[in-house]
Amino acid sequence: MIGLSPWRRRNATGLCYNAAMRFDVLTLFPGMFAGPLNESILKRAIQAGTINVVLHDIRAYATDRHRTTDDAPYGGGAGMVMKPEPLAACIRAVLSMAPETGEPSQPPVILMTPDGEPFTQRIAAELATCARLVLVCGRYEGVDERVREALIDREISIGDYVLTGGELAAMVVIDAVARLVPGVIDAESIADESFSDGLLEYPQYTRPAVWEGRAVPPVLVSGHHGEVAQWRRRERLQRTLERRPDLLTRAALTEADRAYLRTLGWNDPTVGEGAEHSAATKS
Ligand code: ADE
Repeated sequence: MIGLSPWRRRNATGLCYNAAMRFDVLTLFPGMFAGPLNESILKRAIQAGTINVVLHDIRAYATDRHRTTDDAPYGGGAGMVMKPEPLAACIRAVLSMAPETGEPSQPPVILMTPDGEPFTQRIAAELATCARLVLVCGRYEGVDERVREALIDREISIGDYVLTGGELAAMVVIDAVARLVPGVIDAESIADESFSDGLLEYPQYTRPAVWEGRAVPPVLVSGHHGEVAQWRRRERLQRTLERRPDLLTRAALTEADRAYLRTLGWNDPTVGEGAEHSAATKS
């Protein structure tokens, strides 16, 4: 077990106690985590005790002389499969770690795998409500199916591509979840960002006001807060329509949003034929 910070509770505001969120990561390559966890926001969150990442080397649970963690697949085929015994022993050992400081002993055990449920901001928000997560990093051609059946609660993929292992995927999950843990970044940045309400973010600008002949949109320097807010909302709607129209069906849209989107050529499913169709499918 390689701890990156002591587990402790902290009093962030002086008024309420926030328990830190704990991530247990089971991996054959704990060294891969050193870079991402030792920079920037995650580093600060670990130092502050707001999050705690504990790395567990699966190889330490192999009992043979060569500390073998993989074997050839039954039925033949390319590649190697992660053996059940060391991985299961590692998961069980992590789950049995004494929760003397208050963290739950039965957190969700999540396997990082390309055939898992696609990771989204909604899942990140859901996981951020857990006090503790156990992330299992698969390697080789995969994990013996019986370990998945016996010990894995949930399987997550970070996208439709195959990585060399689950480590980078686990880092993505840690990063996306950790920044939603209270105290890691300021709450305002989270409220306003892409995906939080199903829309992409508006474009951002900073000084200088003119850069290489390109001026900042005048409304942003007008000082009219209401107009800035409306411009930003419209930019979000337009950007989402252009880049990710699929998101609009689930986004929280007001009637004014819908009207604006229709002026951009959006085929509003609540109007006309689309509406009749969705009413027909509901009944
Ligand atoms: N392991 C290998 N590829 C992966 C992916 N796309 N998501 C999660 N874990 C993986």
